[in-house]
Amino acid sequence: MTAPLIDPFHRAVNYLRVSVTDRCDFRCVYCMAENMTFLPKKELLTLEELDRMCSTFIRLGVEKLRITGGEPLVRRDIMTFFKGMKRHLDSGTLKELTLTTNGSQLERFAEELYACGVRRVNVSLDTIDEDKFADITRWGRLQQVLRGLDAAQDAGLRIKINAVALKGFNEDELFTLAEWCASRDMDMTWIEVMPMGDLGNEDRLDQYWSLKDLRARLAERYTLTDLPERTGGPARYVRLEETGQKIGFITPMTHNFCESCNRVRLTCTGQLFMCLGQEDMADLRAPLRGSESDAALEDAIRAAIALKPKGHDFDYSRQQVDGQMSRHMSHTGG
Ligand code: GTP
Ligand code: 5AD
Ligand code: SF4
Repeated sequence: MTAPLIDPFHRAVNYLRVSVTDRCDFRCVYCMAENMTFLPKKELLTLEELDRMCSTFIRLGVEKLRITGGEPLVRRDIMTFFKGMKRHLDSGTLKELTLTTNGSQLERFAEELYACGVRRVNVSLDTIDEDKFADITRWGRLQQVLRGLDAAQDAGLRIKINAVALKGFNEDELFTLAEWCASRDMDMTWIEVMPMGDLGNEDRLDQYWSLKDLRARLAERYTLTDLPERTGGPARYVRLEETGQKIGFITPMTHNFCESCNRVRLTCTGQLFMCLGQEDMADLRAPLRGSESDAALEDAIRAAIALKPKGHDFDYSRQQVDGQMSRHMSHTGG
């Protein structure tokens, strides 16, 4: 038996998020600049290397694998990677293989994803108003995403909608989104906007809508019951008694969930970020490429986990943005 990955704060790391590309076919305003410079393709881990990397983590106790980006489904041949990961689901060592996507390519890939053992997907969607969608994503088209959602549900995938709570942007859709999700039998999670990427500080404060406030507004119309269940992610859930649906809250700003953090993030170039809200990272590409055996890679992973920080320092409470990360969210995939 290999020893599990335990960090200095006694947290077991069993959840790996893997960003397979930094590219995306959208340009959401809180995530990317309009003119992004992307990594040259030769910097990327190959699909074989990604497989070896993930398989090593799984051997070290990772049970939940979430594929992210950029937009993971724009990476060329990514289904080959998903097909490879299925063997770990089949053997029982991996409990969940899933992804976070903008939904634009689901029409094309939903069935294959299901065949690879994916059972639920998180789709980022902040509004169901076509014009607002075009504004917030800069390049996206809502209809394409809606067709993706249909295809995913037809293929048997369960969907969770992720919406970033944005003041003055989707406040007026709080009930519309809840009811739309309920009518389509989709779960939903709201996320507090985090200070990632070098956008002006004032932008962030202006955009920030606290989930404390959002929750209070939801409670004006619905009866909310706190649920004990956890998916292994940071969301905390309530049930809306009137619709029966589940709504999640991810509250990096108003309630820090770092004490129960169980995850690390691998980028498409093989950097391991031990925390979304800190600059520290470890290069895993060199030990991976440096030897055919996985021993050096395993050592590098253990050494990185031993440096996992206690948590992020994001804070807006002093009417200024603290703890800002200069890298964009698309670098680590959220
Ligand atoms: P579930 O498995 O459905 O619970 O998903 P998840 O919440 O783990 O994954 P998802 O990709 O849907 O995450 C939603 C967003 O929550 C991410 O993109 C991040 O913005 C945020 N998030 C996830 N993990 C962390 C974390 O460790 N710290 C912070 N600050 N934010 C996180
Ligand atoms: N703050 C909070 N969430 C963000 N996301 C992207 N950028 C930010 C940000 N600055 C979300 C996306 C998606 C997930 C990967 O991260 O909407 O749901
Ligand atoms: Fe792409 Fe996701 Fe960023 Fe939007 S939030 S630009 S979909 S990576």
